[in-house]
Amino acid sequence: LWTPDNIVEESIKAVREQVGDAEVLLGLSGGVDSSVVAALLHKAIGEQLTCVFVDTGLLRHQEGDQVMATFAEHMGVRVIRIDAEKRFLDALGSESDPEKKRKIIGNLFVEVFEEEANKLKNAQWLAQGTIYPDVIESAGAKTGKAHLIKSHHNVGGLPEHMKLKLLEPLRELFKDEVRKLGVELGLPYDMVYRHPFPGPGLGVRILGEVKKEYADILRLADHIFIEELRKQDLYDKTSQAFAVFLPVKSVGVTGDGRRYDYVVALRAVETIDFMTARWAHLPYEFLDHVSRRIINEIQGISRVTYDISGKPPATIEWE
Ligand code: XMP
Repeated sequence: LWTPDNIVEESIKAVREQVGDAEVLLGLSGGVDSSVVAALLHKAIGEQLTCVFVDTGLLRHQEGDQVMATFAEHMGVRVIRIDAEKRFLDALGSESDPEKKRKIIGNLFVEVFEEEANKLKNAQWLAQGTIYPDVIESAGAKTGKAHLIKSHHNVGGLPEHMKLKLLEPLRELFKDEVRKLGVELGLPYDMVYRHPFPGPGLGVRILGEVKKEYADILRLADHIFIEELRKQDLYDKTSQAFAVFLPVKSVGVTGDGRRYDYVVALRAVETIDFMTARWAHLPYEFLDHVSRRIINEIQGISRVTYDISGKPPATIEWE
């Protein structure tokens, strides 16, 4: 019978049998799947687990601190945090092509992760948050974005010579089961029911060339949007919501005069499977409030727009 506590017990038993007393390495992204794997492995094998969290500089507002607070401070999981913002921005340089940006970010992620992995003496296993839909998806021939969806944190891209065996304890579970498991393991509800976040992060939400200045502005706008969605009980009614940075300047007025600043677009969708989606019909008063907050509180933004494109024909992300 499938119940979360049965699954916890069974998974712990299976992991212990599989791993024995070897050490396990996990790339922790802060997303639901890798977080649940971290919590599960911590319970199953405690000290034998080491997590690597790479801060690419393209994460959401205070994401790194949150991951460290939840896992390292509260749960006592060993997490190595790598501040790689400069490396990622340097590697991206002036690249503006979406797929090339994805490749640069994915490859560098693997490189940084591998460097840390090599510092560990006895790691024999590499844990991954692969879930059942990922297994099905990568079985079919996929091109373009789809096959990259997991590649960011995926061993698919890890060099052969690493010789780590794969540990995928969520391989047979669907997303809703993974979430129930996470709650059962004591992870915060907000973390377990978070909207999905793409591996390349803000790298594909800053259109064209990626700059630190843009990422800092975008993080603040995104944070206001998400904070308001949560406050007004709309977060769980949307499947994914975020802000997008448009590197174009537009004129505006404030008390002290004229502004000439950047534009952000807000995107919120409702979907079951992320293959098709409809734009979320958020209340006008809500959008008005968010727009005013963003323009008043963030220097560098003079205009906010709301994306009313469905998928298809548009995609959920802008790149
Ligand atoms: P699109 O934009 O293709 O997005 O309609 C569908 C879902 O996939 C996510 N997405 C990605 N996830 N790496 C990821 O890990 C990527 O390169 C990537 N591109 C899109 C997107 O956030 C949405 O949930």
